[in-house]
Amino acid sequence: MDSSPAKSASSHQSLAAESLRADPRVAEARRLIAAAVSEHSSSIGGTRGANPSLVSEYKALLERLGAARGGPPFWPYLASGLGNGPYVELADGSVKLDFISGIGVHGCGHSHPAMIDAAIDAALEDTVMQGNLQQHPPSLRMCERLIAMASESGAKIDHCLLSTSGAMANENALKIALHHKSPADRVIAFDNAFAGRTLAMAAVTDRPNYRMGLPLALSVDYLPFRDPADPERSTRAALDELRRLLKRHPGRYGAFWAEPIAGEGGYYPGSHEFFAALCKPLRDEGVPIIFDEVQSFSRSSRPFAFQHYGLDEFADIITVGKITQVCATLYGEAFKPKAPILSQTFTGSSSSIATGLAMLDQLNSGGCFGAAGENMKRHQYFADGLEELGKKYPLRGPYGEGMMIGFTPADGTFERAKRLMTIMYEVGLLGFVCGSDPTRIRFLPPPATTTRKHIDDALSLLEQSLEKFVQQI
Ligand SMILES: Cc1ncc(COP(=O)(O)O)c(C=O)c1O
Repeated sequence: MDSSPAKSASSHQSLAAESLRADPRVAEARRLIAAAVSEHSSSIGGTRGANPSLVSEYKALLERLGAARGGPPFWPYLASGLGNGPYVELADGSVKLDFISGIGVHGCGHSHPAMIDAAIDAALEDTVMQGNLQQHPPSLRMCERLIAMASESGAKIDHCLLSTSGAMANENALKIALHHKSPADRVIAFDNAFAGRTLAMAAVTDRPNYRMGLPLALSVDYLPFRDPADPERSTRAALDELRRLLKRHPGRYGAFWAEPIAGEGGYYPGSHEFFAALCKPLRDEGVPIIFDEVQSFSRSSRPFAFQHYGLDEFADIITVGKITQVCATLYGEAFKPKAPILSQTFTGSSSSIATGLAMLDQLNSGGCFGAAGENMKRHQYFADGLEELGKKYPLRGPYGEGMMIGFTPADGTFERAKRLMTIMYEVGLLGFVCGSDPTRIRFLPPPATTTRKHIDDALSLLEQSLEKFVQQI
């Protein structure tokens, strides 16, 4: 699939930009950079401890980072800028197995040749950023690719607006929905939802401490999410609550906002039955349905988790981010705003758009999708390994779907989960916490490049971590 910034069709040959891209010196520079990156990253083939000579300098850098950002980072991570697949080199010379990928961003792992090649294309562009008054063909291609993928099995998606964060993509989604349903002013979401960090998203996100001291920008009501231990009862409970809300606030709901797989909330998968049961009455009431796929995009058997659950007919508005490098809000013609409520100086960097296109190519060519595709096969392999560890160590699960996989350590308290996450970090395995009551440890391995060997390495590092963990609890 073409991911170069401009098509080299003969009609473009008179363009100065085309002759720059076709210049043999550019081709030679690309070849030399690729060879240099490959040579230097090949020394990063497995986990290792810090280089003692860099430890004090690293500590000083972290202190400066803490001072600059107004508090220490959640963990002492400062990358060197080079990696190799899921292995990442930190600025202290240590190498970690990165199975959290910046919370789902590095879909090809680190220093992937296709990403670097795409970034070189972007570096030749005349602008660092793309925006509403400065669109280049790659922006158009990204929009068209996402629209085609989102509508490939029937969802009515015609338009795409790029943006620079998942929160902004959600902000645009809510604006589109509320504008469509004006003057409706309430939103329905799920318990433990996470939508991002803007003022409106702080209202949608179900974490009181994330909105502490902030005025409430939106009125949001919450439904309980699907409980995999009792899907029928939990579906009935959510449906009963939805009916109660629709009756209590007739005509007031301007959006139903949902993650098809609860991410920050603790890796709870949805299902066709659960969502279809809720979406039908919402449809009857004309409430626009937003699926937030910022974390779930590209991690199940289909590009979108709403497709994985067969919910195409209900997807009115969709948001993506993280692994796509540039974020986006996708929506159907019926939801096209009738006033200029959407616009941004910056819709994404040239580099994020070029690498996003290359990422979509890699996800497709990596065989990620399909009922028996790599995402589902690797999930099973990883899940089997976690289950084995659960026979020996205090670990419940596995949970999640596809390349979103997690487990509950010990009693599921935040303190214990953070303790294990910190031990894993020291041992060399990057995973992260999610959910509350219970708090889980989650992994977001790079879908395009993870192998069984990488999963074996993760399981072995996890076992070493659990061995230390049990001595401390
Ligand atoms: C489901 C979901 N939506 C939205 C966001 C917000 O994305 P961003 O951090 O890019 O603003 C996240 C981030 O974790 C997310 O998981």
